[in-house]
Amino acid sequence: MSLATVILAAGLGTRMKSDKAKVLHPVAGRPMIEFPVAMARALGSSRVIAVLGHQADAVRAAVDKRFGAGSIEVAIQAEQRGTGHAVLMAEPLLRDHDGLVLILYGDTPLLSQAVLDRLVKAASPTTLTMMTARFADPHGYGRVVRDGNGRFVRIVEEKDASADEKRIDEINAGIYCGPARFFLDTLRSVGSNNAQGEIYLTDVMERAARELSVVTIVAAADEVMGCNDRVDLARADRILRVRLAESLMRGGVSVRDPTRLYVEPGVEIGRDSTLGPGVELRGNVKIGTGCVIEQGAVITDCTLGDRVHVKPYCVLSESTVGSGVQIGPWCHVRPGSVIEDDVHLGNFVETKKTRMGKGAKANHLTYLGDADVGAKVNVGCGTITCNYDGYVKSRTVIEDGAFIGSDTQLVAPVTVGAGAVTAAGTTVYRDVPAGALALTRPEMVIVAGWAEKKRQRMTGANGVAKKAPAKKAPKPKKKAPSKGKASGKTARRRG
Ligand code: UD1
Ligand code: CA
Repeated sequence: MSLATVILAAGLGTRMKSDKAKVLHPVAGRPMIEFPVAMARALGSSRVIAVLGHQADAVRAAVDKRFGAGSIEVAIQAEQRGTGHAVLMAEPLLRDHDGLVLILYGDTPLLSQAVLDRLVKAASPTTLTMMTARFADPHGYGRVVRDGNGRFVRIVEEKDASADEKRIDEINAGIYCGPARFFLDTLRSVGSNNAQGEIYLTDVMERAARELSVVTIVAAADEVMGCNDRVDLARADRILRVRLAESLMRGGVSVRDPTRLYVEPGVEIGRDSTLGPGVELRGNVKIGTGCVIEQGAVITDCTLGDRVHVKPYCVLSESTVGSGVQIGPWCHVRPGSVIEDDVHLGNFVETKKTRMGKGAKANHLTYLGDADVGAKVNVGCGTITCNYDGYVKSRTVIEDGAFIGSDTQLVAPVTVGAGAVTAAGTTVYRDVPAGALALTRPEMVIVAGWAEKKRQRMTGANGVAKKAPAKKAPKPKKKAPSKGKASGKTARRRG
């Protein structure tokens, strides 16, 4: 039977205390709304309909960004009059859908595909399925009422529940599957005669228990957890990250502290790679085999080859890194960097829109922006590409095998030819031909004996530092003298 999914996500989520709609808050780096959409697609749902209200445009934009424009249909629920009312808003879109409908929430990101699969498989034209769980603290949730034989009877909301019913610890997760027709026909007739004056989706299940049949699927408590405030968000975030870390570990990756790995769904890492504590991998990250990513590295939208060593506290964004590369510690690889095989980037090196050719090295304190650095180039400590004149960015080209002396400034646009050398401290403002030396350097002056003379003047022959003459306490003056003069006399000493 064909399957359509309806995702309820119209609420503002008052308890978030946020200007942003609840389902846009991230778990494991992803807006919550992405999770049910991804699930629906993974389950083979032919249509995905989101019922949106608060910030509908922003929510749709977030989904489009991840899954492509038009990946969901949207039904608007302008006023939040209950979960059943929300599903009714999708009725015009579902009118000619003859199959099953799966109902998910926008704020339940921890559901596994396995448990949803069971829910969908157990549903049929005559059977509705619903997900439940046992909660140590069921407060606030709808409770699952069963008869003496344990058969499902109905769901009662916290606000409508008797004292006895409130003691039931089996809760309704709010996730259902069944024939779309039955949901819509029932919702049109149930009304809103309850404590909240809402149209309750749960009433569908009560009628199904009488007229068709209901199967309950009991899920683990942490799968059905909804995220209503920021405490829930942090808890869900941690659960999801540990799950992701565990799946990486099962794939042959070592994770030194799974609770402190910040990784987003979809990150790919090869076997025998190791991730240190506090590593953050965001967006589209692919890491090869045998890599070591040490403490505190933050890597966003990057591809790394094999045997890459990223030392502590490096930040890499929107770049590609070859194999056998060493980076850091404290290195900043900014967007558009292409770091080829066997390159070394050392501490306090920053690259941006820069290619580092195979085997090139920049080991200390260097800025390489808008540069094309050839193979085996050695970039000395303190090198700066002066790529910006306040108006335009210009490129620096350093050809294969060149040697850039320490403290070289390359005033772009400029080219240093293959195998050329720039002397330490050189400001390169014209192209350097291949094989040449470029040197800009003021004459050095030697004053023989100068240091020894100064030492004697300051310390005397015995080598003990002379005491500065004791300052006399300034005499109280009748008239304050002009400031400039007074400080001129007392502050300047011979030296
Ligand atoms: C609902 C269930 C309750 C269940 C709980 C699980 C009903 C009547 N109650 O509670 O039995 O234990 O979920 O979390 O169904 N939404 C809309 N429009 C609305 C109302 C809600 O889109 O008018 C969306 C919310 O944005 C949210 C989801 O539906 O994503 C659940 O809403 P929420 O108010 O948290 O659930 P309850 O109705 O309290
Ligand atoms: Ca509610």
